[in-house]
Amino acid sequence: MTTTVSERVPDPCALIIFGASGDLTRRKLVPAIWHLQEQNRLPAAFALVGVARRDWDDDYFRQQMREGIAEFVGEVDQRALDAFLARLHYVCGDPTDPATYAALKARLEALDAECGTGGNRCYYCSVPPQIYRKIVEQMGAAGLNHQHQSGLGWSRIIVEKPFGHDYDSAHDLNQALHCVFAEEQIYRIDHYLGKETVQNILVFRMGNSMF
Ligand SMILES: NC(=O)c1ccc[n+]([C@@H]2O[C@H](COP(=O)([O-])OP(=O)(O)OC[C@H]3O[C@@H](n4cnc5c(N)ncnc54)[C@H](OP(=O)(O)O)[C@@H]3O)[C@@H](O)[C@H]2O)c1
Repeated sequence: MTTTVSERVPDPCALIIFGASGDLTRRKLVPAIWHLQEQNRLPAAFALVGVARRDWDDDYFRQQMREGIAEFVGEVDQRALDAFLARLHYVCGDPTDPATYAALKARLEALDAECGTGGNRCYYCSVPPQIYRKIVEQMGAAGLNHQHQSGLGWSRIIVEKPFGHDYDSAHDLNQALHCVFAEEQIYRIDHYLGKETVQNILVFRMGNSMF
């Protein structure tokens, strides 16, 4: 029997966003995760950990995301929003510094124990493209690329567009990723690619009696 998206029970997991103090996190990523919570599509055991250099803490990060949701989503149920924001955490650190990954690893292990996230990690690179490679290398050095090893669950990495600026740079980034992650762990995101085509599907569907 086929399972539809809405029937799927997502695994417990932590979502880690590098570049959590940036525009994309506030404008698109956290509002999108909020919509997942609203539609009961987040796992019961879930934590979002923002990483960036800015000297923020959990409370300040939550406040920033509260304001982002007010700005980009609009009015929402405040009790549900409080419950959502309580699942957000912040690790202050430079993504090029190994010490950041030691701090992140400790926080993730604490969240596994506290929230039951089960060692499953989804990493999202939302930083300027020139930092992607450094993040991937540091993750490998810190052992944050595990895939069902040492009693931990899966790890996946999402890389924002642009994926390189020409063929050679895209190829280099791909190689750096493959030194640390298996292809099945890598997700390359371009949320604008095909946007107009997707938006036109409804027009196409309604404008054609054949469909
Ligand atoms: N914004 C969008 O709507 C959008 C749309 C499509 C694609 N993108 C892509 O998504 C990624 C993030 O976009 P964004 O608009 O959020 O970018 P951003 O605001 O310029 O930067 C994101 C974060 O990266 C960190 N950062 C900046 N320079 C850094 C450096 N030299 N070393 C380490 N960390 C650094 C900053 O945090 P700290 O300074 O606190 O460390 C910042 O919060 C980019 O690759 C962009 O091309 C964005």
